[in-house]
Amino acid sequence: MSYQIAIDGPAGAGKSTIAKKVAKTKGFIYVDTGAMYRAMAYYLLTEKVNPENAKEIEDKCQGADITIQYVDGEQVVLLNGANVNGVLRTEEVGNMASTTSKNPKVRERLTQLQKELAAKNDVVMDGRDIGTCVLPNADVKIYLTASSAVRAKRRFDELTAKGESCDIKKIEEDIVKRDQQDMSREIAPLKQAEDAHLVDSSYMTIEEVVQKILSLCK
Ligand code: DC
Repeated sequence: MSYQIAIDGPAGAGKSTIAKKVAKTKGFIYVDTGAMYRAMAYYLLTEKVNPENAKEIEDKCQGADITIQYVDGEQVVLLNGANVNGVLRTEEVGNMASTTSKNPKVRERLTQLQKELAAKNDVVMDGRDIGTCVLPNADVKIYLTASSAVRAKRRFDELTAKGESCDIKKIEEDIVKRDQQDMSREIAPLKQAEDAHLVDSSYMTIEEVVQKILSLCK
């Protein structure tokens, strides 16, 4: 049986940074499920699909073959055979992913792939519905959160470090809107699984969060 660590939480809580470090320490693979939803959203954007038209999304998503590879321990997302890692982290793709991930067909396709990866490998998997839907029997479940103000500040610092100008108020508004959308959808909404450990990273360092999770895995 593979060992499964599930990390869920809202956008910007630090899931991927933490999950990567935990995976490295444990020698597990890291599965970033948000990147799969982003790859699907990217495909739907290039196909000029109307994000509010469920039928159109359902039809078009059949044309996206999404697979995962590992290169030097890093997850590479292949969309119809092409590496799309470089185009997934924009706000446009993130917002489209939040909208199109409501669609049951999209979720069905990606959930299946995620379950297969976790059945064959020891994993740290992060997302919104890992502990509740994808891996309900995970060995350790974490619900990682932080206040919207702290998450907005982290994103602001990240963007300004890259030389991009941005408005922290607008970033926080977007974060709150995305949380609402992810938490209120009908299928697999973002919520803490009953047996998940709540970790609020607002006033914790990355290393403290990593150590906390590793201690829960013993
Ligand atoms: O974690 P992220 O920002 O890369 O995720 C992008 C969007 O994908 C997020 O707003 C909701 C969706 N998502 C999801 O519905 N289920 C997951 N397991 C992961 C992400």
